[in-house]
Amino acid sequence: MIAYQSIIDDIAKTSRKVANKGVVASYIPELAVNNIDKFGIHLVDANNNNYSTGDALDSFSIQSISKVLTLALSFSLVGDDLWKRIDVEPSGDPFNHLSLLEFENGIPRNPFINAGAIVIADILVSHLKNPKEDFLNFIQELTNDTTIQYNEKVALSEKNTGFRNYAAANLLKSYGNLHNDVDTVLDFYFHQCSLEMNCKQLANAFFIFMNHGKCQRGKSYLNINQVKRINALMLTCGFYDEAGEFAFEVGLPGKSGVGGGIVALLPNTYCVATWSPGLNPKGNSKLGMAALEELTTKTKQSIF
Ligand code: DON
Repeated sequence: MIAYQSIIDDIAKTSRKVANKGVVASYIPELAVNNIDKFGIHLVDANNNNYSTGDALDSFSIQSISKVLTLALSFSLVGDDLWKRIDVEPSGDPFNHLSLLEFENGIPRNPFINAGAIVIADILVSHLKNPKEDFLNFIQELTNDTTIQYNEKVALSEKNTGFRNYAAANLLKSYGNLHNDVDTVLDFYFHQCSLEMNCKQLANAFFIFMNHGKCQRGKSYLNINQVKRINALMLTCGFYDEAGEFAFEVGLPGKSGVGGGIVALLPNTYCVATWSPGLNPKGNSKLGMAALEELTTKTKQSIF
């Protein structure tokens, strides 16, 4: 039995002492209010044992972490047809770059760069009756927690400043890879990114990726093959142009968001979520990455 609680408590203690905590994202103005000193970890194991430390129960903006959850829902709805519109290769580029999209005729490199996530949002807008409401219900059901909500202020803040996402959506539209209106799709995308969750809720939401597609209550959302593919994408593309570094340092599939959250998982063993709002230059949580490196080193557990 691994002493997860004392390991994450030790990691939190070390993290709090680090002087350079990175930089809080401010390109979405509403995110700039984040307190750089917040730090939390929550780990849930395959037997539903829960371990928390620090600010693990404080909610924050999950931002790009939502891209894994929209991918899961769209994959369950349309199956492999998804891959006609999105590729599965790492981009090696920052999350909001557009150059490859033009070179590759409007097919985004993967579902986690912004352009790819916008195509996934388009698929959900096409297939769901009430897209924002239905997606929120999916998250509330996965976590068995109806307190989870969108933050309208964050969604509006991104709508007012999301020029690169408008550029991506328009480029996709010009290539015929966006079937709905640009504004409708981006309204959904800005809302999915504005979801507020804490580390515990995030670890619980990602339980399906650790547990062959089944949530904590045993309901199945994805088949084993789909889970394999989503975990492969998290490993190779979850951290954009830092995916290699994350695999090298941490050795787990995972996904980051510019709100400072990271979720990672060890199949059949645990899901872990960290939150520290300071980002490194690649837009991933600086202390979150360091914490996960320490976790896999101290527990001697990783996919490798
Ligand atoms: O589209 C954006 O720029 C943000 N809503 C999400 C970006 C993000 O979280 C990138 N991940 N680290």
